[in-house]
Amino acid sequence: AVSAAPQPAAPQNQAALPAASRQVTILFGSQTGNCQRLAGSLSRQLEELGFEVTTASMNGFKPNALKKVEHLLLLASTHGEGEPPDNARSFHEFLYSKRAPKLAHLKFSVLALGDTSYEFFCQTGKDFDQRLEELGGQRLSPRVDCDLDYDEPAQGWFSQVLSALSGGGLDASLLAAETVQAAEHSESPESMYSRNHPFQAEVLENLNLNGRGSDRETRHLELSLEGSNLTFEPGDSLGVYPQNHPQLVEDIILAMGWDPQETVPLNKKGEEGSLREALLHHYEITVLTKPLLEQAAQLHIAPELQRLVTPESREELKEYIKGRDLLDLLQDFAPWDVPASSLVTILRKLPARLYSIASSCKANPEEVHFTVRAVRYEAHGRDRYGVCSVHCAERVQPGDSLPIYIQHNPNFKLPASPEVPVIMIGPGTGVAPFRSFLEEREELGVQGPSWLFYGDRHFVTDFLYQTDWQRMLKAGVLSKLDVAFSRDTEEKVYVQHRILENSRELYQWLQDGAHVYICGDEKHMAHDVHSALVTVIQEEGGVSAEEAAQYLENMQQAQRYQRDVY
Ligand code: 2AM
Repeated sequence: AVSAAPQPAAPQNQAALPAASRQVTILFGSQTGNCQRLAGSLSRQLEELGFEVTTASMNGFKPNALKKVEHLLLLASTHGEGEPPDNARSFHEFLYSKRAPKLAHLKFSVLALGDTSYEFFCQTGKDFDQRLEELGGQRLSPRVDCDLDYDEPAQGWFSQVLSALSGGGLDASLLAAETVQAAEHSESPESMYSRNHPFQAEVLENLNLNGRGSDRETRHLELSLEGSNLTFEPGDSLGVYPQNHPQLVEDIILAMGWDPQETVPLNKKGEEGSLREALLHHYEITVLTKPLLEQAAQLHIAPELQRLVTPESREELKEYIKGRDLLDLLQDFAPWDVPASSLVTILRKLPARLYSIASSCKANPEEVHFTVRAVRYEAHGRDRYGVCSVHCAERVQPGDSLPIYIQHNPNFKLPASPEVPVIMIGPGTGVAPFRSFLEEREELGVQGPSWLFYGDRHFVTDFLYQTDWQRMLKAGVLSKLDVAFSRDTEEKVYVQHRILENSRELYQWLQDGAHVYICGDEKHMAHDVHSALVTVIQEEGGVSAEEAAQYLENMQQAQRYQRDVY
């Protein structure tokens, strides 16, 4: 027998692992930072266990290097109509292209983040999972799809993955629990407050930014962070836990003939409270999802509801849930013989809403400002209200408090160097983060060139933060401002028209290394602005549309083209 050479003492957890299988690659595709944060904590945890971990955003990873990866853990969120996040798009495209390598040696697992109220729930995660298998990879553990409240399922996935990686020889459940907790805390390392433990922030100011006669109501709120140790950077978001509309809660209770004081579960942790409290503060009652209807059909034997959840009625169900809420469901399939305590268990937890922060922490220490447009409309014969926006507009006064947390967003950040020019495109409430950007630059005393494109309906009533922009122009913090008021003229003008009108100068800024930021509506505005930028590059650079699109793609890779869109 050959005697083994003396080995340095391995850390305890490493001993059980065969050396060859210790390398793990973690790739994330993240828009608002959730997947990125989870990836970071998973990576730290694996390193502590003795694994050699490489962690990267998908577009920060050379896709051809996949050929050499043995263990791949992939975390991805989904946006809009089933689309990958910006920093996952090129990797997604690569895997579906002819250039994608065979991956027979690969073991992988996918964690998908999404929202069951969207038709293409977790589509990006599903795509990756399916495609990696098609390319020859083998699953280490099954894909896990998470709804908005992702902690528990993410934790489950962590345990499965850790256990599979350590050859089943490790009880990973405890470690995984720590991992998700750690992810929460890395949101704000200095503070004890996080998404699962929000800070009660006192409201200092709540103003309507729109002038009298406007058809819009946009609130500017200032909150105190005193005593929270919470800090943030320009580009970060504020998570706000709202209350449901009290009238909707009363209408639901009345329609069901329930007792508002009845004790019901408030969450899965076993806490209890009154039905009224549960519906006001704890459960989502304004959105219907497919899983919710399927669960309702198990509680309630109404033939019409039973039919609606069959596979043959898929399209009809999709149509039905659009724009309807819990009250519609309860009324449309009445009478119900279901106790409140059972019904609440099928509801989703009331999620926090994310708002782009509108102030700089350096300029306004221990404060956070944000901008909310009240959402009010009619649908299916009834007035509907945006949960958080109308709560902020109608039921929050200075002196009240709001449960909040900071959501760091690494994908919407000012250039590291303050001299680099920035082009900011933010119509409507999309302008909020740029107030933060410019306040920050003003506070730092830096005067890198900056250019803001802003638009809304009417100059007189809808020019959000007009006096701030004017002051900043005067002070030289803002170099250029172009505005588009869409309803002051016969013909609509939007920010993209201003971009096209300024194409020569804008292209020069791009050539000078400017960073471009877009914030606001994703579906129409961000898409149209992207096309306008392609046109500018095409015409001023004298290149084809494909080359212009590639120019923007390269800017995105270099983090010079960033979007905070919703
Ligand atoms: P509209 O309401 O007159 O159509 C902020 O909401 C501003 O964005 C409004 O002036 C709105 O104009 C405008 N807007 C609507 N669709 C847009 C699009 N596709 N691109 C850019 N701006 C748009």
